[in-house]
Amino acid sequence: MSVTIKSEREIALMRESGKILADVHNRLAEEIKPGITTKDIDKFGYELIKKHGCIPSFLNYNGYPASICVSVNDEVVHGIPSSERVLYEGDIVSLDAGVIHKGYHSDAARTYGVGKISKEAEQLIKVTKDSFFEGIKFAKAGNHLHDISNAIGHYCESFGYGVVRDLVGHGIGQNLHEDPQIPNFVTKRKGILLQPGMTLAVEPMVNMGRPDVCWLDDDWTVVTEDESLSAHYENTILITTGEPEILSL
Ligand code: MF3
Ligand code: CO
Repeated sequence: MSVTIKSEREIALMRESGKILADVHNRLAEEIKPGITTKDIDKFGYELIKKHGCIPSFLNYNGYPASICVSVNDEVVHGIPSSERVLYEGDIVSLDAGVIHKGYHSDAARTYGVGKISKEAEQLIKVTKDSFFEGIKFAKAGNHLHDISNAIGHYCESFGYGVVRDLVGHGIGQNLHEDPQIPNFVTKRKGILLQPGMTLAVEPMVNMGRPDVCWLDDDWTVVTEDESLSAHYENTILITTGEPEILSL
């Protein structure tokens, strides 16, 4: 598949899709407190997405069994919500959600502390979010894709963190995952030339320790190999000739 350039009509729909997803995330954020289960979060997210008249894009995607990926502590991404998994004070939790609105996808992730968390965990969450904004400073027509990747990678590494290399961001539109793949780490290749009308999901996954990850027996949950904490931050963005437009914020 090649990289798609969205028309003005498609961009308008992507904007609507992103706005809805931003609202879903804002409402989910208010639910994060000690005692809630990861299944409660998924159920609430499913209902919010339905209320907007949208389809939860993750549900049944390659067999994924929920609407929201809920990943706790050393879980990097794709945690499966469970009524047995209770959030406790001091945990960190990443919520990744996607919606389909009038045929157009948006995809975004946020990481939160549950109650009071350690200074170290707070910094990890902040650096992960900030690295996204460092990266998208380079997200404009005429730059190369990996200018974004390198900026994210260098920023995270300057804090001694390990940036996950086994999972990447992606193009997005009528499909959840479109070309190009978007590394979040420093790479020697330049990547494609960015053009106005490209819509991309940029999503740094950052470990407090080593970058290495492995998969649990459920074949979904990705965890850090060294059991260090991990954070995730993602938005769907639009490339223009000037500043990128963040659609899911
Ligand atoms: N945001 C995730 C990604 O970009 C989507 C989760 S995949 C799913 O890969 F299967 F869990 F839906
Ligand atoms: Co994504």
